[in-house]
Amino acid sequence: MINPVYSPAPGRYESGIRFRRSGHSGILLPEIALGLWHNFGDVNPLANSMEMAHYAFDHGIVHFDLANNYGPSYGSAEETFGVIMKKSFAPFRDELFISTKAGHDMWPGPYGEWGSRKYLMASLDQSLKRMNLDYVDLFYSHRYDPNTPLEETLQALVDIVRAGKALYAGISKYPPEAAEFAYNYLKDRDVPCLIYQGRYNILNREPETDGILDQAREKGVGFIAFSPLAQGLLSGRYLDGVPADSRMAKEHFLKSSVLTPKMHSTLVRLNGIAARRGQTLAEMALAWCLRDDRVTSVIVGASRVSQLEDDFKALENTSFSAEELAEIDEIVWSAKA
Ligand SMILES: NC(=O)c1ccc[n+]([C@@H]2O[C@H](COP(=O)([O-])OP(=O)(O)OC[C@H]3O[C@@H](n4cnc5c(N)ncnc54)[C@H](OP(=O)(O)O)[C@@H]3O)[C@@H](O)[C@H]2O)c1
Repeated sequence: MINPVYSPAPGRYESGIRFRRSGHSGILLPEIALGLWHNFGDVNPLANSMEMAHYAFDHGIVHFDLANNYGPSYGSAEETFGVIMKKSFAPFRDELFISTKAGHDMWPGPYGEWGSRKYLMASLDQSLKRMNLDYVDLFYSHRYDPNTPLEETLQALVDIVRAGKALYAGISKYPPEAAEFAYNYLKDRDVPCLIYQGRYNILNREPETDGILDQAREKGVGFIAFSPLAQGLLSGRYLDGVPADSRMAKEHFLKSSVLTPKMHSTLVRLNGIAARRGQTLAEMALAWCLRDDRVTSVIVGASRVSQLEDDFKALENTSFSAEELAEIDEIVWSAKA
């Protein structure tokens, strides 16, 4: 049987999706974006990856977040997305917001990682080919490179935008001082930084404590949270052990050593609050990130459509009482003590 032609849900913008403005820019981003770090590589079934991408777009999740080396193998998540572009999304390119990045290791030798102009320029050209795109909406410097003059990395971002290969520039995981320099440098060249991408979730408060959230707001830059579920830890996935098909079972990016008895009891207690709110733990964890209006959006990962369905429900209630927030903080701080 021939695959039916994809036709998106006509009510995709009335599905409950909401949009927030990214800093002082013209760009509205959906409160939830789909990240392709895991489960979109050439080791994963294409049909499942396509189903998740379709579900996202059908619900107004128009932002897809990639990087050159997402897979495995490196590059293959972009290739998968390229297939989805070609087969499903091509007629809807102008409804989509597609981001990619370069900064981590991608190919052998000195020009295949970090922040040189040579690496960033070559990497984006490769990404565009893999994704069947003429341009990306957003291109990130994926990490701060302490050994490359920051001006070189940032000027590459400026030139990429000026060449029309990306519409906006962003930075990820930059320490506050480097972020400050980047915001000023980019603004002075009329390519203001659109957004900062950083790890933020109930268990990891670094963007609050190191000032990244306040700094972004002051500078008119958006903030997008990656791993808002702490790679799945902040979901129901590990309340009763480690499922064989989970990220933790792979023992690569999420190690089972983090699931100590203390962590388990933290998750059980957090799950109790979620249940009182009528949410799953995953829904509450996403809602918790979105309770803060310094956060433009969260990027979730998923291994199946049912998880995205659950994650999407988070948008139904993103407000917390002061008591709930205090209780969550107490649980997290007491676990760290
Ligand atoms: N800038 C950076 O350096 C950086 C770093 C990391 C990530 N990111 C971006 O952020 C995106 C998200 O990162 P992440 O995948 O770590 O995010 P995450 O949302 O914290 O974790 C996603 C994982 O949680 C589990 N999950 C999701 N929803 C669930 C639900 N409703 N119930 C139960 N389990 C659920 C799934 O795990 P299973 O696979 O076990 O089912 C899924 O793969 C990435 O794809 C990437 O775009 C960027």
